[in-house]
Order: sequence, then structure tokens, then C-alpha cells
Amino acid sequence: QNIMILNGPNLNLLGTREPETYGFETLSDVEELCREAAASLGYGIEFHQSNHEGVLVDLIHEAGRKVKSGELLGVVFNPAAFTHTSVALLDAIKGADVPVVEVHISNVHARESFRHHSYISAAAIGIVVGMGVQGYVLGMQGLVSKLTK
Ligand code: DQA
Repeated sequence: QNIMILNGPNLNLLGTREPETYGFETLSDVEELCREAAASLGYGIEFHQSNHEGVLVDLIHEAGRKVKSGELLGVVFNPAAFTHTSVALLDAIKGADVPVVEVHISNVHARESFRHHSYISAAAIGIVVGMGVQGYVLGMQGLVSKLTK
């Protein structure tokens, strides 16, 4: 069974993008970190990044189908800037009825006030904020512990 790791806009620039906020690890470092952490939990991963809201909506729908068929446990999702803007992503998560853990690398609550509100949190089973890229690992652990215990 797999865990889907889903990344929103600009996270393809991880490593060079505002490293004082997001660190020096690249998205492929994050993928590797997630693959190893998932394996130690007994799961595989499906890793995606898109800068396009509609592509992310489609991937959440796909995740919903895969959760129903048993191929997927759930989704660890960093919606990036769409966190603060996207009713479409909130509706996709609700509509696809897919378990989602929301992850933010930075502590959004210590940043600009427009980052304090998340449209996604209302549909998330849990949230990891401000733990750096390790937050993806913590998110996967939380997903597994909430859904399998
Ligand atoms: C982010 C926080 C968002 O506010 C921002 O737009 C991002 C990344 C994070 O991981 O800390 O792109 O989701």
C-alpha cells in the first residue's frame, strides 16, 4: 500500500527558494526522505508536485479512487500558497473523501497574517506546521497511526 505525498506551487524550487525559511533540502531530497520513512513504516510512496491548482484537484480525486480500492492509505499534502486561497482544494478533499494530513515546512503562524488562515485545515485529519522537511515524515507517521491503530 502507498502513501501519496502531494506538493503545491513553488515547492519544485525547494533548496534554492528562500532557504532561510524553507531550508536547503531540495524536493528530490524530500522525496528520498519520504521514501525511506514510508518504507520503515511498511509503505510505498507516490510523490507529486504541481504548480497548477486543477492538477492538484485531479490528483486528489485520483487519491480518493485509490483509497477506495485499497491501493492508497491517504495523502500527506503541502498545498503551499493554495492553502490560503483554494476553496477548490478544500472541496476536492471533502468530495473525494480522502484522509489528508496537511503539512507546512515553515511555521505559517509566525509569518504574515495572510498565512494564518488555511482553507485546507477544515478537511484535514491532522496538521504539521513548522517542523521543516521532517514535517513530511511526522505527517506520514500521524496518517498511519490515525488510520491503522
Ligand atoms: C508553505 C507555507 C505557505 O504559506 C507558502 O505559500 C508555501 C510553503 C510551507 O511549507 O511552509 O509555499 O506551505
